[in-house]
Amino acid sequence: KIVVLAYSGGLDTSCILVWLKQRGFEVVTYMANVGQDEDFEAAEKKAMMLGAKKFVCLDVRREFVEEFIWPGVQANAVYEDRYLMGTSFARPCIARGMVKVCKEEGAGYIAHGATGKGNDQIRFELSCYALYPQVKVIAPWRMPEFYEKFRGRQDLFEFAKENNIPLPVTPKSPWSMDANLMHISFESGILEDPKAEAPKDLYLMTTDPKDAPEQPLRLEIDFKHGVPVKVKNLEDGTVVTSALELYLYLNKVGGSHGIGRIDIVENRFIGMKSRGIYETPGGTILFQAHMDIEVFTMDRELRKIKQSLSSKFSDMVYRGFWDSPECEFVRHCIDKSQECVEGTVTLALYKGGIYILGRESPLSLYNEELVSMDVQGNYDPIDAGGFIKVNALRLQEYHRLRKKMGAE
Ligand code: ARG
Ligand code: SIN
Repeated sequence: KIVVLAYSGGLDTSCILVWLKQRGFEVVTYMANVGQDEDFEAAEKKAMMLGAKKFVCLDVRREFVEEFIWPGVQANAVYEDRYLMGTSFARPCIARGMVKVCKEEGAGYIAHGATGKGNDQIRFELSCYALYPQVKVIAPWRMPEFYEKFRGRQDLFEFAKENNIPLPVTPKSPWSMDANLMHISFESGILEDPKAEAPKDLYLMTTDPKDAPEQPLRLEIDFKHGVPVKVKNLEDGTVVTSALELYLYLNKVGGSHGIGRIDIVENRFIGMKSRGIYETPGGTILFQAHMDIEVFTMDRELRKIKQSLSSKFSDMVYRGFWDSPECEFVRHCIDKSQECVEGTVTLALYKGGIYILGRESPLSLYNEELVSMDVQGNYDPIDAGGFIKVNALRLQEYHRLRKKMGAE
């Protein structure tokens, strides 16, 4: 029996590795490089030392940016008005790699260390079932024979000592983290009290806005088909063009200017509310810039429909339905809507804020002559009088009725 375990190198998944072996599984440990700050070699060493059959690490960073984050940028995807979904986008990408490894290794099982209360279990498993229908899932944190044995961290420590699992050298931070190149999320532990302010040293990708540089940093971002294709730093002339490097560059400059921190309560799919803190520097810049160039270039009515699709898309992504027919369809529609979303946005980053300074586009619907106060253009102001009167008709009828009812 071969199982592919989504391995993090941490205490939990190391215990799961050994526990699976004790239950007669051959364990292939799988790590996806989604841009987290991780010592992959140390993780490999540890996994092999603990008796893994094999360690596979897939570098999926480029795929993550181009095939998952870019559709998110095109959509202006956001969950419950604030969360840019760094974890939600990464899960189907990680799961895709996991299925690939299963097929290569002839594994019939997958295992992961997500808890039974969260979104991640749903995202992993929905994508794996979709891409590998016969797969069998082992989710130890949902199995009584596992969670009754490991009731707290102390039990994990005991098990680790008994089984020569190296204990973490740095004490665990009092919260749970999930990191990738799009964001870092923090939840659980001391953050569970929604009123308790996060400690200053929690943040890892962003400078505290009050300590950010006194000088704003101006950037030019070029979009084509709704996707960023070039970033130019107007202070020092740096130009970045390839997808992954461009995204990492925005993280770097955004992070140093304190961009993209949020502290929110959100509704998990499973039904409970949870408090989360997120740092999404590059994603936050692209969200603002894309929104600006999209309004500039897209037809008004098309945009309304696109927005309603975007909100549906965001729910699907959050809930783990990336590999569903409805999500595929909506991605296709959103991609089509981006045909004319092209041009350059100039903005400034300053102490945690993003300030749009201007925009230009070869494909814009903006007509300077038409909107100008000084030029007539192809527009007769007399027509506006009739337009307003026709629109007023319905309002007049409504108020006539209100009067008749004695309400006015
Ligand atoms: N609440 C966020 C989400 O559902 C982040 C989850 C982070 N996962 C974690 N293992 N800390 O997308
Ligand atoms: C977890 O429960 O494993 C992390 C949080 C989540 O998935 O929502």
